[in-house]
Amino acid sequence: MKVIRAKHAGVCYGVERALDMAVAAMMDEDNTYTLGPLIHNPKVVEELRERGVEVAESVDDLEEGIVVIRSHGVEPQVLSALREKGLTVIDATCPHVAKAQRSAGELRNAGGTVIVIGRSEHPEVKGLCGHAGPRAVVVADASELPDTLEEPVGIVVQTTESKEKLDAVVEAVRARGFEPEVKNTICFATRQRQNSAAALAEEVDAIVVIGGKNSSNTTHLFNICKAHCDRSFFVESAEELDSSLFEGCETVGVTAGASTPDDQIQAVVEYLETL
Ligand code: F3S
Repeated sequence: MKVIRAKHAGVCYGVERALDMAVAAMMDEDNTYTLGPLIHNPKVVEELRERGVEVAESVDDLEEGIVVIRSHGVEPQVLSALREKGLTVIDATCPHVAKAQRSAGELRNAGGTVIVIGRSEHPEVKGLCGHAGPRAVVVADASELPDTLEEPVGIVVQTTESKEKLDAVVEAVRARGFEPEVKNTICFATRQRQNSAAALAEEVDAIVVIGGKNSSNTTHLFNICKAHCDRSFFVESAEELDSSLFEGCETVGVTAGASTPDDQIQAVVEYLETL
């Protein structure tokens, strides 16, 4: 069976940067925390914990030491609360997320309704809403648009969303007679991974998508693969795979979310190559 790895897959620039910043912080100070798991990858978070980087679930859990803000960013109020407590803050917000936050702030200043496309429970979306202000509404897709929109309508999007979803929301807003100001804040790394996953899923008999089940960008990758290839499988590690899944396959693709390190991808590739 031939195993083909997607041209763009795995850890992105923003995640790598956040990991490096957390490890560097840990070298300087015993009490190093991340506010929430640094990335949506349970294995990596556990490895960091073993090396001394603890996860704090909320600002209230922190009294002293260094706190690393993860690549997803936070609401401005959270940053202020951490600084008021006298904690040393290392801001590892991905520069692309920071740009999306600035865009949300610009839309807030313009007035009207600010539509934030993404998963309401996702930390990045919470951070974007903090910048977008009290008139922000979060929609997972066009079907969740509120009945009433106030002009001017602005649209900003979670960096790991798909372009198709953004286009569908823009179209639905236009169909209601508004001309929205659209900030396409989907990041380049996400687009690269989505495009190469779609191209690969088209050409293989089956495809494996690796990443945390709580990772938005990996879930999107899986949905994209599923649209192009019926035999798409979403796993966190090679242990979840079984040879029966690949019966009759001549080619299998492998792709991975932006928080999946190379050793986890390699383990899946090596397993598939044994079949
Ligand atoms: Fe940043 Fe995009 Fe990665 S927003 S964290 S480079 S998926």
